[in-house]
Amino acid sequence: MSNLIETKYAIELKGVSKIFGSVVANDNINLNIKYGEILALLGENGSGKTTLMNMLSGIYYPDAGTISIAGDEVSISSPTDAINYGIGMIHQHFKLVEVLNAMDNIVLGTKEKYLKPKILKDKILNISSKFGLEIEPEKKIYNMSVSEKQTVEILKVLYRGAQILILDEPTAVLTPQETEKLFAILRKMKEQGSAIIIITHKLHEVLSVSDRVAILRKGKLIDTVKTEDSNEKQLTELMVGRPVSLKINRPEVESKKTILNVVDLSVMNEDGSLGLKNINFKLKRGEILGVAGIAGSGQKELCESIAGLIKIKSGAVLCNKENIIGKTPDEIINLGISMSFVPEDRLGMGLVGSMGMVENMMLKSYRKSKGFFIDKKPSRKLAEYLKNKLQIVTPNVDMPVRMMSGGNVQKVLLGREIDSNPNVLITAYPVRGLDINSSYVIYDLLNEQKLKGVAVLFIGEDLDVLLELSDRIMVLCNGEMKGIVDTKETTKEEIGLMMAGKSFKGVEGDE
Ligand SMILES: Nc1ncnc2c1ncn2[C@@H]1O[C@H](COP(=O)(O)OP(=O)(O)OP(=O)(O)O)[C@@H](O)[C@H]1O
Ligand SMILES: [Mg+2]
Repeated sequence: MSNLIETKYAIELKGVSKIFGSVVANDNINLNIKYGEILALLGENGSGKTTLMNMLSGIYYPDAGTISIAGDEVSISSPTDAINYGIGMIHQHFKLVEVLNAMDNIVLGTKEKYLKPKILKDKILNISSKFGLEIEPEKKIYNMSVSEKQTVEILKVLYRGAQILILDEPTAVLTPQETEKLFAILRKMKEQGSAIIIITHKLHEVLSVSDRVAILRKGKLIDTVKTEDSNEKQLTELMVGRPVSLKINRPEVESKKTILNVVDLSVMNEDGSLGLKNINFKLKRGEILGVAGIAGSGQKELCESIAGLIKIKSGAVLCNKENIIGKTPDEIINLGISMSFVPEDRLGMGLVGSMGMVENMMLKSYRKSKGFFIDKKPSRKLAEYLKNKLQIVTPNVDMPVRMMSGGNVQKVLLGREIDSNPNVLITAYPVRGLDINSSYVIYDLLNEQKLKGVAVLFIGEDLDVLLELSDRIMVLCNGEMKGIVDTKETTKEEIGLMMAGKSFKGVEGDE
């Protein structure tokens, strides 16, 4: 193995192309990666990253070009082939069997599923400790957090002896702490000679974990740069193809009137613990109220209780002084409260994969229409408008959304919510999985809504963005509100401390 590591590329792509109908998803790509190297693959939504990786993992077969593994030209025509060539891919949507435990998932499809449980468990724990993975072999998948599931996926790949690991946006749904843990594992694998390709839209991650960066734009490989010689600005420009300004505005809006008043809201979890404890805040027209907190601090419960999706334990949510508790989700939507929560699985967000953008727009307007007959024209107009405005990459608005790239699917969903002309717009993690440029388009859109007088509740992950975009920030920790701060008067450090459980020194609760 050691000779191989020094002399041969782990992967060498020569002239690789992939075409879907009228879309050239990958155009004559020449790229290589060494053993003991971490390569970041960067590019806007729809630039062809997943497609390229899917040709290495046996999901797609190239229309042109060659792939060599460890110096030998190979033909990868199925995921099994890929595994046999030592390639393991961690997809954005996990492929684990929820009702089985970690151990059974890891050996699924291998001959070793007949091994004695004790031997199997030891073998798994051995691999985990070698790479610093933390795992409970007997825990069922459905009881696991996203990060735990990801660890199982990685172990599955390592168990099969993969020397080449591909990760498609593994950090999109991880907390910063979980991301650091993952990176520690990747660095360990690299030290042990693995070749790793990681796709991420977060430039600080690219700069922290990779050795080289390959940049794709509209299906073409634009450049490969050494990470140590690059910076965020250069990478963004290579990706987008022109200078971009990464600045978020915070327009001032006068005469704010309270539209949503949340009073002593408490929500019970299934296990009887409190998911939200006495939350109090007012949301005004023409403001963006940010919500900060580490994942699982009550963000989901907050969104779902306002949208009428879960039962609350006590308290009230007043929209224009009318209590909306007990109303159905449809009634709440009709009051002008729109909610979009971007979960880990983007296709599970209320879009139908087999339908195109137009029909997905109709799904929403259908609710409002009274009769059986619905006119397709407004939906088509809206789909075309969103395609332009959000720079959605798709050959046409009728192509099934499941064929669109991950980030573009998300733009469709978000655009549809924002366009419903709400009074209150609740948006959680809207830029998850979006490229930098698109993220800024979304921030602009939220500001546009604010200027129109919409009250925006913005649940975010990136503290810098929360601070730049929001007028005020509410901090959640363990289901409790640690206070609401004015973004002009606070610091990142102060918010960080509140996220960790410290109460705001000012008045607890409302301003
Ligand atoms: N099965 C398919 N049928 C038709 N078009 C497809 C298919 N798979 C991908 N495409 C198209 O190929 C292009 C590249 O998509 P890909 O998923 O590789 O992008 P990506 O760089 O991974 O984007 P993202 O950052 O949004 O995940 C897109 O225009 C997409 O619509
Ligand atoms: Mg992708």
